[in-house]
Order: sequence, then structure tokens, then C-alpha cells
Amino acid sequence: MSRPNAPPSDALVFFGATGDLAYKKIFPALQSMVRRGRLDMPVVGVAKSGWSREQLVERARASVTEYGGLDPVAFPKLVEHLQYVDGDYADAATFTEVKRHLGDAKRPIHYLAIPPSLFPMVIDRLAQAGLTKDARVVVEKPFGRDLASAQALNDTIHKAFPEDSIFRIDHYLGKEAVQNILYFRFANAFLEPILNRNYVENVQITMAESFGVKGRGKFYDETGVIRDVIQNHLLQVVSYLAMEAPTSTIPEAIRDEQAKVLRNVRPMTVDHMIRGQFNGYRDEPGVAKDSFMATYAALRMYVDSWRWEGVPFYVRAGKSLAMTCTEVMVEFKNPPQCVFKEAAPAMGNYLRFRVSPNVTIALGARAKVPGEKMIGRPTELSVVEEPKQGEAGRLGDYERLLGDAMLGDTTLFARQDVVEAAWAIVDPVIHGPSPMFPYEPGTWGPKEADSLTADVGGWNTPT
Ligand code: BG6
Repeated sequence: MSRPNAPPSDALVFFGATGDLAYKKIFPALQSMVRRGRLDMPVVGVAKSGWSREQLVERARASVTEYGGLDPVAFPKLVEHLQYVDGDYADAATFTEVKRHLGDAKRPIHYLAIPPSLFPMVIDRLAQAGLTKDARVVVEKPFGRDLASAQALNDTIHKAFPEDSIFRIDHYLGKEAVQNILYFRFANAFLEPILNRNYVENVQITMAESFGVKGRGKFYDETGVIRDVIQNHLLQVVSYLAMEAPTSTIPEAIRDEQAKVLRNVRPMTVDHMIRGQFNGYRDEPGVAKDSFMATYAALRMYVDSWRWEGVPFYVRAGKSLAMTCTEVMVEFKNPPQCVFKEAAPAMGNYLRFRVSPNVTIALGARAKVPGEKMIGRPTELSVVEEPKQGEAGRLGDYERLLGDAMLGDTTLFARQDVVEAAWAIVDPVIHGPSPMFPYEPGTWGPKEADSLTADVGGWNTPT
């Protein structure tokens, strides 16, 4: 992907240094970046925890040990770069301290690993301290709670940062497998003639997780499955699958096409949606006893474009399902006639992208069973099957994304118009009331969801 000519960042400041995200994702990513020689600059952690720098170093040590393993060469180097400012985000003195620690750095990148409610204050203080000039800012999802709040958040950030200095993380875009959807589509000529309404019967995207809310009950009960993963991760996947070819010579081409196609996705309606909640969710710590938040949703969507008119896109995601797996199936229409006098196959040709836990690209086809009869069986031409992310020298999602942000490459980040287009799609169903169906943990969700796909022979359930 193209790299703009912008100079790289020369210091990293991360707010929320003692928090969960820093522990699970940021420290391991920083250690990997040091290992690959991609991080040789001041790294300033900021939080209000009453901690010393030594405590933060110990926290970093525990983090890398638990997530990926401590590298005896890279970790001490990271510690050399690591500094800590303990202070209140409301207090201008905190930001004076940050500035002091930045020394000669001229182009810091500020990573806001903090709740969005704190963004206005932190951005304001950064600007007052003169820390926004030539700087970049990285923000985490959820980016807003709906279209209106996302627009307000964008206005807040734009007060201090232009759009090309804003990096909204959607870690799905950092995944090799998701980038491969884009790559596979546009690096191969054979798909293009058939990836449209003339040949595609339907598209299904399943993001199943076998675990529940894992101690994040309070967050989840304010968020729910649509805001948590559908508005962002899964609509990004829809955009890569459905968009037109980006013009390779224009830096913003990929995000332009994403925005275009998402604007063509018909806004959701409750009659094309089944919501569910797993039994036991209301007993989770932090969850209201009468919670009406969905832990499962299945949607039928339409992309109102020349290419996709009339092709249903089914999207489902849920917690406490039968397995953990994210998979995309593009199912093609059957041949016009059954030449070989066998029953029409339930499953004919398809393209399958498995995004996690392992990475697979496969083409489903039928081949003849050896013997006298012209009878076939389904077979898969497996195009790529690789080890899990993080193995075999791959970049982890966060390492990839942080590295890109520091180089000023916005390609794998959610642009303002893309985020707002995605909110516009789900906005009608996150505010209004709709039925809620219970389901047992360990199943594929409420059976009512089967009604959505009844016309196309049901859900393609990953195995
Ligand atoms: C996060 C959601 O954004 O993505 C989680 O908040 C979800 O609820 C997670 O479990 C899934 O990401 P991954 O990379 O583990 O598939």
C-alpha cells in the first residue's frame, strides 16, 4: 500500500498507560516494534494511577510475558525508551510534564487509549501545551455511539488535528486475513467477471465467539453486538468485499471506494434483523438484571449498487456461540441446468475466506467421484492456509497499525466518512425497539435467525 511522503513520527505518547488495552495490546506491539528496529524514540506513558515509572515497567514486563513472551533483547531496549507521567488529564501541569519528557521530539503521535468521554479534555490540553503541531492522534473504537455522537466526536478531534493526522483504529483492518480479502479480489483477474449479481447468490459473514463478555459486562451492556463488532469490524469486511476496484495511483483510493460502497448499503430495518441474548448474560457482573442489550444479531443487508443489486448480504455475530470463528462465504449460483442427472447440489461453487482463528482462502467446486457414474462431490481448492497471526514473523494487528500510523499511512484506518457511513447503516436499528430472542450458550444463536436465510437454503455454518 502506498506510503505518503509525510515525515515519520519521532515520539509516542500513550494515554491510558496503566489500562487494559495497554496491557493486552500496546506493550506487546511496542516490544515487537523494537525487535524489528521500528521503534527508536521516546515512549511516554500517561495515566492517573499514582504509579511510579518502575511500576509501569513492571506492568509492561507482565504484559509482554503474558501476551507473546518477553524478548530478552528487545524488552530492555523498550524500557530504555519508556517514560511515565502520572497526572490528571484535567491538569495542564500533566501536559507540561509530557512536553518535558518529549525533549527534542517535533512530531509526536498521541495514542488515546482512554474512554471517548475524555477525548475533548485531553485534546484541548494537548493543544494548549503546544503538543498538536505536526502531531498525529490515534483513537480507539467505539468511535461514537451512533451517527450523531460520531459526528460530534469528529468535530472535537478536528479542532486540533486535520483528517490526515487522525488514525481511527479498527483492528480488523490490521489483520492479514482481512487485507487478503482486498488483495485476493483485486490481484486476480478471474474473480472480477463473476463477483456480481449475475453469478453471486448470496454473501454470508459470520463472526462467532464461543466466549461471553469476559469481565467486560459494564462496557458490553452499554454497547451490544451491533456497536461492538458489526458497525465497525464487519462493515469494514463488507466494504472490502463489495467495493469497486480502487485506482492504485491515488493514495486515498481504497478508502474512497469503501466510503462509496458503504453509502450504497441500505440502512437497516428491524424486519431484516434478529437480535438475541444468551441465557446467563444478565448474571454477568456489570450487566443490568433486566438488560435488553443484544449479544447476538443476524442481519440481511443489501448493497444498492449496479454490481450487487438484489444480492442479500447476511451478517451475523454473537457471543457464547458454538465456536470461535470469523468466516466469509460468497455463494455462487448453480449451473443453469443439471447436465449430469444428479440432484442439484446443496452447496456448489463458493469462495470462502476464513479470517480467524486460522487464515484460509478456498474455492468450493464439484468434482467427479471415481467410477462409472457421472456423480460429483464437493471439493475445495484451498488457496491459502497459513499459521495464526503472530506466528512465523507476521505482524500482529496492533504492531502493523501503530507502525503505519507512525509513518503517516492512513490506508488501514477508518476515515471520517467511512465511519459515518457505517453508523448511518445501523442507526435505524440501534435506537428503536425490536424483539429479543434468548439462546443457549454453545449454540448458533436463536433459531429465529434461520428465517432470514430461509430463501437461500440457510446459514453456511463454519466447521
Ligand atoms: C473487539 C470487540 O473489537 O473485537 C470484542 O470489542 C471482540 O468484543 C474482539 O471479541 C474480536 O477481535 P479478535 O481480533 O479477537 O477476533
